[in-house]
Amino acid sequence: MSIKRILLLFQAINFFVLLCLTSYIYYTSKRSTTQSVQEYQNLQNLRHNNITIILLWTGWFYGDWPVPLGGHQCDSLSKHCYFTIESKYYSTADAVVFHGSDLYRMEDAALPNQTSKPRHQRWVYYTMENPPISAYLGVQAKERDENKFDWIMSYAKDADVYVPYGQIIKGRYGNGYDSNINYAQGRPKMVAMVASRCYPSRMKMVAALQHYVDVDVYGECGTKCSRNRQCWNHLKQNYKFYLSFENEVCKDYITEKLYNNAFANYLIPIVISGANYSDIKVVPPHSVIDALQFKNVEELARYIKIVAEDNKLYNSYFQWRNRYDIKFIRMRDTLCTLCKKISTKPLRKPSRPYSNLRYILGNHDGNCKKFPEPSRLNAVKPNFTYFQ
Ligand SMILES: *[C@@H]1O[C@H](CO)[C@@H](O)[C@H](O)[C@H]1NC(C)=O
Ligand SMILES: *[C@@H]1O[C@H](CO)[C@@H](O)[C@H](O)[C@H]1NC(C)=O
Ligand SMILES: *[C@@H]1O[C@H](CO)[C@@H](O)[C@H](O)[C@H]1NC(C)=O
Ligand SMILES: *[C@@H]1O[C@H](CO)[C@@H](O)[C@H](O)[C@H]1NC(C)=O
Repeated sequence: MSIKRILLLFQAINFFVLLCLTSYIYYTSKRSTTQSVQEYQNLQNLRHNNITIILLWTGWFYGDWPVPLGGHQCDSLSKHCYFTIESKYYSTADAVVFHGSDLYRMEDAALPNQTSKPRHQRWVYYTMENPPISAYLGVQAKERDENKFDWIMSYAKDADVYVPYGQIIKGRYGNGYDSNINYAQGRPKMVAMVASRCYPSRMKMVAALQHYVDVDVYGECGTKCSRNRQCWNHLKQNYKFYLSFENEVCKDYITEKLYNNAFANYLIPIVISGANYSDIKVVPPHSVIDALQFKNVEELARYIKIVAEDNKLYNSYFQWRNRYDIKFIRMRDTLCTLCKKISTKPLRKPSRPYSNLRYILGNHDGNCKKFPEPSRLNAVKPNFTYFQ
């Protein structure tokens, strides 16, 4: 009797353990299939709902991209954009973005497998640096980058995806222009500049100008004044002009030195760059003093003094603020522009990526002119070749 009972108990335990084991196996397997199905559906949904997937393959200056990831990043025109850094999206991504200076340091093996690149996918080479500075920083395109990239995304107007540092649009900038205000009033000082990279040709120009007019240099290249709001307020309240000298004279290369540093602080910009100042999408009309129009720095300084002493002339450089606004371009805008291009611009030639990337992005006369000598400013005629 007792043996029978023990046997029964043993059987019961056996059955219970078996039950637990089967249900454990059943539920765990079910959970993992559900997970992968969801993941699969997520990828499929993105494609079926016409969501453009942008995969950021490299980092951004060895760190995170200054942009929120995921969906719903762009305005109504391009709301179906999905930004990701996850390589599992590779086979479905519409564009794979490689940031030049990060790509440069990437091992060949860390690049995606080009053989399995989907037909619809664009590989995008992205850079906001000009050719001489790229060379100086040692981050140009390499030989292994040829025959890989379908698009170039940069500040140059002839890039496949043109992403300037700033854009001029119709509207009104800040408080606009008030004809009752004398913008020169209470600003005793003449010319200011903030620079952290002291490129010799640019500093030589500044030194030459200092012979004729007061120029105060802030930042690493001059008096210490860190790039904080307090420092900019000091400039805004005391100076009349700002030197927006780009580091090089390159096709379309015009940066925050104009938009953020000068315009945003109510300083009249004195500019040296390769930008087209007749293009009101780049620079508002009658808003800058273009140094390359003058014979030499002496002539330039003479004109700066004339403007400083003539209130009517000085204030005329602010009138554009009633008719134009500045769009400061952020990283998110840049990627949204790319997203829009994917649905509007066909591939240049499917499966025919750039085979001359190093030349197109290279340092030659078609891209950049030599920085001018102080004695021969207007000898530099920005006159560039466009590829498209
Ligand atoms: C996606 O786009 C294609 C072609 O532009 C169109 O035919 C299709 O209806 C769109 N699908 C959705 C879900 O919007
Ligand atoms: C790249 O993809 C192709 C086609 O899918 C495959 O045959 C090849 O083995 C892959 N190469 C590597 C290094 O993964
Ligand atoms: C500069 O811009 C103006 C206005 O958009 C245009 O007519 C002109 O052709 C441009 N010049 C160059 C050299 O691209
Ligand atoms: C601009 O460059 C082209 C070709 O490099 C040349 O033919 C033309 O004369 C140049 N124009 C000016 C104004 O220098």
